[in-house]
Amino acid sequence: MENKGVAVVLAAGEGTRMNSELPKVCHRCFGEPMIKHVERGLKISGFSEITVVVGSGRERVEELLDSQVKRAVQEEQLGTGDALRAALEKIEISDDIPLVVTCGDVPGVRPSTYGRLLDNFSSSPTELTLLTTEVDDPTGYGRIVTENDSVIKIVEEKDATSREKEIKTVNTGIMCGRAGTFRDRLPELSADNAAGEYYLTDLVELLVDEGRTVDTQVVEDEWEVRGVNTRRQLVQFEREGYQKQVERAFENGVTVHDPDRVKIGPWVELGSDVELENEVTLWGETKLGRGCRFIGPVFAYNAEFGQDNFVRRSYVNNASFGDRVRIGPYCNVRPETEIDSDVRLGNFVEIKASRIDSDTNVSHLAYVGNAEIGQNSNLGAGTITCNYDGYEKHRTVIGNDVFIGSNCELVAPVEVETGAMIGAGSTITEDVPSFSLALSRAKQVTKQDWVTETWKPRKKEENDQ
Ligand code: UD1
Ligand code: MG
Repeated sequence: MENKGVAVVLAAGEGTRMNSELPKVCHRCFGEPMIKHVERGLKISGFSEITVVVGSGRERVEELLDSQVKRAVQEEQLGTGDALRAALEKIEISDDIPLVVTCGDVPGVRPSTYGRLLDNFSSSPTELTLLTTEVDDPTGYGRIVTENDSVIKIVEEKDATSREKEIKTVNTGIMCGRAGTFRDRLPELSADNAAGEYYLTDLVELLVDEGRTVDTQVVEDEWEVRGVNTRRQLVQFEREGYQKQVERAFENGVTVHDPDRVKIGPWVELGSDVELENEVTLWGETKLGRGCRFIGPVFAYNAEFGQDNFVRRSYVNNASFGDRVRIGPYCNVRPETEIDSDVRLGNFVEIKASRIDSDTNVSHLAYVGNAEIGQNSNLGAGTITCNYDGYEKHRTVIGNDVFIGSNCELVAPVEVETGAMIGAGSTITEDVPSFSLALSRAKQVTKQDWVTETWKPRKKEENDQ
């Protein structure tokens, strides 16, 4: 996707209401800091430029941001209007470019909502389009005040009259206007209000007073644009998000056996006939193809599974799998791992930064790190790639149709070529050519009758002491 706007995320606030040393936008929901959800939504929506305004705890926020995302610093937290001013000082775009302002504490916004906001703004003769929603309890939100169905101003909770407080149409904190409008008007804001802050929302009254129109775009699902200011709100937002995802999953032909014991994050995609047993957590941009069956506890983050994968009691982080892969129980699949179809990763197997081609088995108790393994090979129980020499990581390359017996160490860098065999209990330090057998273990010594002739069991009384 690509759109014609630029985006600014306000994320410099301290988040006093979280009562935390961590800046508010770093608090996690669905396993990731709020700011990451906002960043992902804007990226998928296709903004050509994204600028995040940082201030309070800026190092903690900045280290979370993608390298392509620009940062602007608001030295003192003087309000949302001042935060946008700080961003505009950093952004070099012409006045005509539409600019979407959003907040780091509104993590549920879908990419399509930003797209629609830009389209609506660009196709109507408005000066500003506000994203609004209707809520049962508007406490804490800026209220959208209208006269004859036209927006005249936004009034913040702290400044609202008791009549205004009854308004249930609220400001989501997200709006779109031309960059030039913001540049020209922000200096006119005053901090003469209950909070003593430069409110971005005061822009509305300024424009309306000059005869300009301000439009709204209503978001039907209030959850999507909910602002998170307290820990209670964070957890409530998260819980409702999970509930929504389960409902969506049911509609898409997915069985979630106990909705209270399965967590499906908002960016997860599930194919039809997926079946999720209890204690499955799917976070980030995880995808499950048709017919996958997961038996928890399973945790998957940014993982892509093809069709008909069967996963039991395992942990998967940033990895991809073909079709019909069997994983676990007790498998730990770590980042940069690529597994092809019909592979079997059995119990107590750890895999990291490796590629395994189709039909290969790593069935028990193995560590595979920085390795490339071909098709139809077999790694016996206890196979270990010794990839680290204390300074650097080295690669292990294993070809197709290789058979590695149990309890072998492969000291990298090392290559085991197509069709080779390695005897159980070997420590392999040199390359093994195709179709050869490598053995590296001490020859067995058997001493007949040694036990009865030389070894006497101790008496029972001695053993008891
Ligand atoms: C704001 C809006 C309110 C809206 C609500 C929606 C204003 C004045 N109020 O209120 O109308 O209904 O969001 O959730 O805009 N920030 C800065 N610098 C600052 C202050 C805030 O960057 O000096 C950032 C915060 O980090 C946050 C965002 O702006 O991500 C919104 O600030 P917050 O204090 O949460 O405003 P609300 O009271 O929620
Ligand atoms: Mg807020």
